[in-house]
Order: sequence, then structure tokens, then C-alpha cells
Amino acid sequence: MCGIVGYVGKERAAPVLLEGLKKLEYRGYDSAGIATLSAGKLQVAKRKGRVEGLASAAQTLQGNIGIAHTRWATHGAPSERNAHPHVYRGIAVVHNGIIENAKELREECEAKGEVFSSETDSEVIAHLIAETYRGDLLLAVKEGTARLKGSYAIAVLCEGAGNVIAAAKRGSPLLAGKGERCVLASDLPAAAAFAKEVYALKDGEFALLKGNEVRLFDGELNEIRREPLKFDLKEEDGGKNGFSHHMLKEMAEIPASIANSLVNLQAKSRFSPICIVLCQTYYIQIVACGTAYHSGVAAKAAIEALSRVPVEVCIASEYRYRDPIVRKGTLVIAVSQSGETADTIAAAKCAKEKGAKVLALTNVPYSSLTEVCDFCIYTHAGREVAVAATKSFMAQLAALFSLASALAELKGRSAPPLAPFPALAEDALARSERVKGWAKALRSAKSVYFIGRGYDYAAALEGSLKLKEVSYLPGEGYPAGELKHGTLALVGADTPVVAIVGDKRIAEKTMNAVHEVRSRGARVFLVTTIEDLGAGILPLEDILTLPSCEAVFSPLLTVIPLQMLAYETAVLLGNDPDKPRNLAKSVTVE
Ligand code: F6R
Repeated sequence: MCGIVGYVGKERAAPVLLEGLKKLEYRGYDSAGIATLSAGKLQVAKRKGRVEGLASAAQTLQGNIGIAHTRWATHGAPSERNAHPHVYRGIAVVHNGIIENAKELREECEAKGEVFSSETDSEVIAHLIAETYRGDLLLAVKEGTARLKGSYAIAVLCEGAGNVIAAAKRGSPLLAGKGERCVLASDLPAAAAFAKEVYALKDGEFALLKGNEVRLFDGELNEIRREPLKFDLKEEDGGKNGFSHHMLKEMAEIPASIANSLVNLQAKSRFSPICIVLCQTYYIQIVACGTAYHSGVAAKAAIEALSRVPVEVCIASEYRYRDPIVRKGTLVIAVSQSGETADTIAAAKCAKEKGAKVLALTNVPYSSLTEVCDFCIYTHAGREVAVAATKSFMAQLAALFSLASALAELKGRSAPPLAPFPALAEDALARSERVKGWAKALRSAKSVYFIGRGYDYAAALEGSLKLKEVSYLPGEGYPAGELKHGTLALVGADTPVVAIVGDKRIAEKTMNAVHEVRSRGARVFLVTTIEDLGAGILPLEDILTLPSCEAVFSPLLTVIPLQMLAYETAVLLGNDPDKPRNLAKSVTVE
């Protein structure tokens, strides 16, 4: 959701900034821009579209200092005019976040005769800083940002302030790094690619980058000292490793992600703070968005079945505005791959204010969510570049199922082993080749329904979201038994149905729904862990039998072919599965 970079060093800034933007492009890719300072004058290049489209325009940019931006549009359509940096009276600004009072502030500026050149909320920041600038850039940034409501991470260049970048953060991520050169970036891998020592700014803080020096300041502009982050990003080069797309590479990494994410909370540390809280947990609320929400739906089924602790799964963007009831003994689990999702962070903060213990489950160390929560479990899926979550979802499931098992054991109940799942997932991946044929049928569909009951419902939701996201085919994930209460009216020959069955106990019930949709002309594809299910009813090529496994954890297998189906369909339709239209990997605005 917009990525920002800053650079000060000995080399020409533009190529380094372009490199940084490429690393951040997963955050938004509808336009990009760079501003550099050369002999005290700003030089700017912007382009609509992806970062690669900016490269030739950036060739003319001189100077060893600059800021850059890759955009995911919030206010104002994707266009060159709305691309960042925004420049006003010698001040250039790049912004990640949303300014909620932009309209009032803009009207105030316009009343003073100031002219705006874009429709964005961000441009007003350049105006406010320009208004307050009296020779001290950091002070002007402090005073200008004091009037903003909403979220921001900004980097600012100023003609006349010398070779210095000022930065500020509230609600959106920002890291500063130093080594031979100084950098700013929206995420750790981008900052770490250019600097040995990296510092995470906290909300309300400021930074100044000059020469090879990074200085951090609190809200009153008192200089602060901070330990650099400890990280090891060696294997995470972000390349495709010979695969045609990141999404395909990341699916191949699912078995390893599951293995890395399985945490034996119970055996490892019975007295760890998390286990102590689990002992005192009588209710759980899971807050998350999108795919992470679906991992919560799967976790609810597993936690309730194994531990009998009641679980509510909440869409994070709904949570805080409904005045949620948080009872004594409530553990809130905030699930987020990126750890930067604004809705999930807001829900976690709200839960904390209401007295809950809050556990973050995230894939990204030092992400903003970890700052807000009491405890943290990392999913260790490794860096995920494709916008559509695949291996990170599986890692979330593995961690949440581990938690379900630990909770069950702490409550004196037993849970089946999770250890076989990395190998089972390897097998499921190999068998998923079959869906290539299914993708051919899906590409001309009007819409596609995914149905499942019980443990399979979460898989149906996730299968449908993945397909919508990368193939742009409409559809729905639906409880199999609920179709006949209305949605069946939409089913016919042009609406294929994918049925998921990972639980023997309800297999026949889901198969009833299969018969119902087939009677209305729908072609049915069956994903199941149950040997021989569907034989004699469906053509063999429309059945994918996965290795059998414990039903409660079956989404760890059944979702794999659904992800593959989405990928294959997207490729057949000529879409870029790594960068679906209108989306960004990290949604840092509410
Ligand atoms: C779908 C997808 C999104 C994210 C959602 C939450 O493939 O990736 O639905 O799951 O935006 O993101 P995180 O997990 O980073 O909080």
C-alpha cells in the first residue's frame, strides 16, 4: 500500500532509488516517481504504471540524494499527475498512508491562494511543510505533520535545506538504515539491502538523513538513541529461483513453510508467557482480514473441536466499530502476514484497550503489529512477494493449529499430531498438477462456487478469494448445506462448482450438494482427502484425491490445489498472478 524509499550517499541516487522501488513494488504498482536534489534544485520524474516504466525517465535525474514512491491509489485515480513525489514551493514529499482531514486542510490552503496539482490527499503535506518552513526542515516537518489526521510515513526533500532528507512516521511503517550510505524504506528487506544498521521508527518519531548519518528524534525533536534491529535475511533474496512467477515459487515452498511454522508451544515452554496466558484463556477472538481471516475461520473450527474453548472470528475492519465485548479470560489473536494491515492493528489496539491479552501471529519481524501486542508468534514462512497469499496462509494455519493443540493439551484433552503435514503437503502439491485441466474449464465460466462444510468451509472461502484475486472471475465460497437456501438459483451450466471434502463424517452431506448442483447442469470438481469419494458419480479427471489426513487439520492440504487452480486459471487468462489489478500486498490504510 505505497512504498517509499530515500537515499543519501556517494552514488547517483536515481538507480539506487529504482532498485529500492522494485523491492517495494508489492505494496502498490499503479504509478511511481522519484525526486532528487542536484545543486540544490529538485528534479522529478513520474510515470503511470509499474516501476520498470519509470527507468528511462529516471536516467536524466542527477544528484546523490533523493526520495521515491510506488503508489496504490487511495485518493485520486492512478495517473502521472497523482503520482508522488508531490512538490510545492521547493518541498518534495512521498507519503504512505491516508490523510483523513485532507479535504479541510486543502480548502484552507486554497483559501490562501495555494494551487494544487493533484487530486491526492498526500499533496497537502507538501503545502503544510512549505508553509511552516523557515530554514529548519525538521521543525517544519514536525509543525506541518502536527495538523494531519490519519496515518503517514513520509520522506521530504527541500531545496535550500542542503543534502538532507527529513522523515516522519505515524501509523505507517518506516525504517532508516546506515552504512556506506543512508536509506529510508517501508520494509526491512528494502532497507537491509542498502544498509548494515537498520532502525525502526516508532509512531510520532522523526528522522534526519545526511551524509552517512541517520539521526532519530522523538515527538519533541529530542534526539534519541536506539539499538539497530537484529535480522538475518540471507536466504530471502526475493528472486523467482527459476519459477515463472513468485506465486508458483511460493506454493512450492509450502511444505517448508508448514515445517518452519509448526511450534510446539506445549512441550517447548510450558511456563512461557504464552502458555501461562493460554491456561487462563476461556474465550478467543481472532481478528484478521482477507486470507488471514480465513486462517482464523479454520482455526476456530480446530480450536473449538480440540480444546472446547469458544472462538469468535472477526473481520478486523468491523471489530473496533462494533464496540466488541471482551470478557475476562479473553485472548485476542491478531493474524496478519505483513503485520502492517491497518485494520488488524486497529482491532488489536481496541482489544488491548478493552483489557484483552493480545497475541500477534505474523510473518514479519518488527512489523507494526508486534509493537501493539503483548506476545508474538512468528510464522517463519519466509518472504512472500506475490500479492496473493499462499505459503504464508499455510504457515498461519500451521501455527494456529499448533496453538489449538497446545490449548487442548493444557485443558487436559488430546490432539492429533501435526508433524506429518510437511510431507503430506509435498504429496498434495505433486497431485495438484491435475487442476491444470480444471483451469481450462474455469477460464470461460460466468462465476465459480466453492462449497464445503465444517472444516472444509474455510478452504472454500480461501479457494474463492484466491480465484477472484488473480483470475478476476467472480464467485463465492459457500457452506455446502446453505446453497439450497437461495444461492442455488445462480447455479447452472456456466457456473462450475468446486466441492471440498476433508472430513469423512460430513462427506455424504456435501455430496448431496454436489448432486443438487449437478442436477442444475453445473460441472463439479471435487477436492477430497477421502479415498474413492465421488467415484462413479464424477468423471475421474474431475476428482482430485489428496493423501488422507486428520480431518481437523485438512485445510493444510485441501487449500493447496485451490491455490494452484487460481494460479493456473490466471495464467491461462493472461493475467499477472504476482500483481493482480487494483491490489497491493500490504494494506496500511483503514
Ligand atoms: C489475499 C491476501 C489478502 C491479505 C489481507 C490481510 O491473498 O493476501 O486478503 O490476506 O490483506 O493481509 P495481512 O495478512 O498482511 O494482514
